[in-house]
Amino acid sequence: MARVLREGAFEGETHIVTGAAQGIGNAVATALAEHGAQVVLVDLDAGKLEEAKAEIAKVSAVEPLVAAGNVAQEDDVKAAVASALEATGAINGVVNVAGITRDARIAKKSFDDFKAVLAVHLYGTFLFTREVAAQHWHPLFKENGNQPLADGVNRFIVNFSSVSARNGNIGQIDYTAAKGAIESVTKTTAREFSSYRARVNAVAPGPVNTAMLAAVGDAGVKAMGAATLVGRVAEPSDIANVVCALADPQISGYITGEVLQANGGLYLD
Ligand SMILES: NC(=O)c1ccc[n+]([C@@H]2O[C@H](COP(=O)([O-])OP(=O)(O)OC[C@H]3O[C@@H](n4cnc5c(N)ncnc54)[C@H](O)[C@@H]3O)[C@@H](O)[C@H]2O)c1
Repeated sequence: MARVLREGAFEGETHIVTGAAQGIGNAVATALAEHGAQVVLVDLDAGKLEEAKAEIAKVSAVEPLVAAGNVAQEDDVKAAVASALEATGAINGVVNVAGITRDARIAKKSFDDFKAVLAVHLYGTFLFTREVAAQHWHPLFKENGNQPLADGVNRFIVNFSSVSARNGNIGQIDYTAAKGAIESVTKTTAREFSSYRARVNAVAPGPVNTAMLAAVGDAGVKAMGAATLVGRVAEPSDIANVVCALADPQISGYITGEVLQANGGLYLD
């Protein structure tokens, strides 16, 4: 992937990326590492995570770290944040990418699937957000006499919504519920985390060329691309570049509480 920001834009920073074993999360972690960040790769899939680490190490100045675990499990998230802090001393950013789909129309949707989808997207996003605050950013705020941090350190969270949060999508009552909630959570977190001078935003991609999209088949992917104004589905790197921009205070230092639509004009809000 080509570097899109100045060299070393995130030098000295630690960024946690969930869902980093493949797809968009992997592209995000690669892009952040290419700009100098030490990335902490989180995913369920420990095997793929090691492969991702080896690949990302080739483009990183600093060795990536891995924290295998389930984003929907409180203990796993606590341990991932603690291990990142122990290894690096500070966390600058979290990108909550991990996700699953369990598509079925409402009449046939199992409650277990509904809960599983909510758990990975919404609970996972909440848990990483809470843990980075509880273990790191809130203690800094307290040390600062409960005054907003004024240390000039880059702090950010980027959450993942989807175009279907606002447009709806047949078969995805659980997924759209989670993504709509993540958009609201992003705004609340932005308000609370202003004390930490952390910017909190979300990206809402349209169709992206990953395993998650493979279920719709080649014809479906073509049709989705044709329905956009740019004439194609996104590549993971398109979305990773947007995350780099949101992570970079020189570009997005005045943007917080926003949901950035990256859908190629498929849906205009
Ligand atoms: N692909 C698209 O068209 C599209 C569109 C809009 C939004 N998104 C969002 O982008 C994000 C990434 O999607 P993708 O297409 O790269 O998906 P993907 O299926 O290619 O990758 C998802 C990754 O998340 C990991 N994961 C799943 N459950 C986990 C858990 N409980 N704990 C830790 N890791 C877990 C998987 O192992 C996998 O590596 C998701 O939040 C998705 O909703 C994707």
